[in-house]
Amino acid sequence: MSKITLSTLNKMKADGDKFVCITAYDATFAHLVSEAGAETILVGDSLGMVLQGHDSTIPVSIEDMAYHTQCVLGGNPRSLVIADMPFMAYSNADQAMDNATLLMQAGAQMIKMEGGTWLSDTISSLVERGIPVCAHLGLTPQSVNAFGGFKVQGRTPKEAKSILANAVEIQDAGASLLVLECIPASLATDISAKMDIPVIGIGAGPGTDAQVLVMHDLLGLSGQKARFVQNFMEGQTTIQGGLQAFVHAVKTGEYPREEHSYS
Ligand code: KIV
Repeated sequence: MSKITLSTLNKMKADGDKFVCITAYDATFAHLVSEAGAETILVGDSLGMVLQGHDSTIPVSIEDMAYHTQCVLGGNPRSLVIADMPFMAYSNADQAMDNATLLMQAGAQMIKMEGGTWLSDTISSLVERGIPVCAHLGLTPQSVNAFGGFKVQGRTPKEAKSILANAVEIQDAGASLLVLECIPASLATDISAKMDIPVIGIGAGPGTDAQVLVMHDLLGLSGQKARFVQNFMEGQTTIQGGLQAFVHAVKTGEYPREEHSYS
């Protein structure tokens, strides 16, 4: 099967076909995720929580991210690999350029950064130099302390307007993908319809172009009880079965349902 590229994802959005993203942090699971049919693999800084045991993603370093990106590359036959820029690895454009270079040289095909308008110049300068960018809005976990906890964002009209405005601005700056995390389903549907670039949701309802889950959550390994998490190992006897069940449920529109969404 041919490798997934950004053109594949853009075409899937244009055709109304949902695509899937699953996190992976090593070669064995990258292989399973890719074989299960996920078009994209996210080497997420969620590794700080599910691998390292921290209570947030803040302690994760750029060296951790480069190491796990390299590990994923070893096992991934086909999916597009996105690597997270960790906390304070992109506080200005020069720092972002150095750290994004490390992740691209470790094997990432795109880097992800949390934030909106304030990142516009950084996004433009990375994109101009050949580094594709996925932006991340809504509940951005690196800002957990500023939010006062892992809380749903965009519930007031003012917040919703601001998330939409940020989405438009990062698209104009050159971002290729957008992750929307834990925002009301109606807002995510509205933003996805307005954006030309594919939008990947997590806790953002069924109206986005794609869905992402942390692998440990969808395999029921993390004890994660967030509303949007479903244990896809139920009824399955193998990990591959659980991963395939998630891919199938996203593509057929069986996941996420209203019970997984915020209003
Ligand atoms: O780090 C991560 O796994 C993420 C997803 C939750 C989107 O950013």
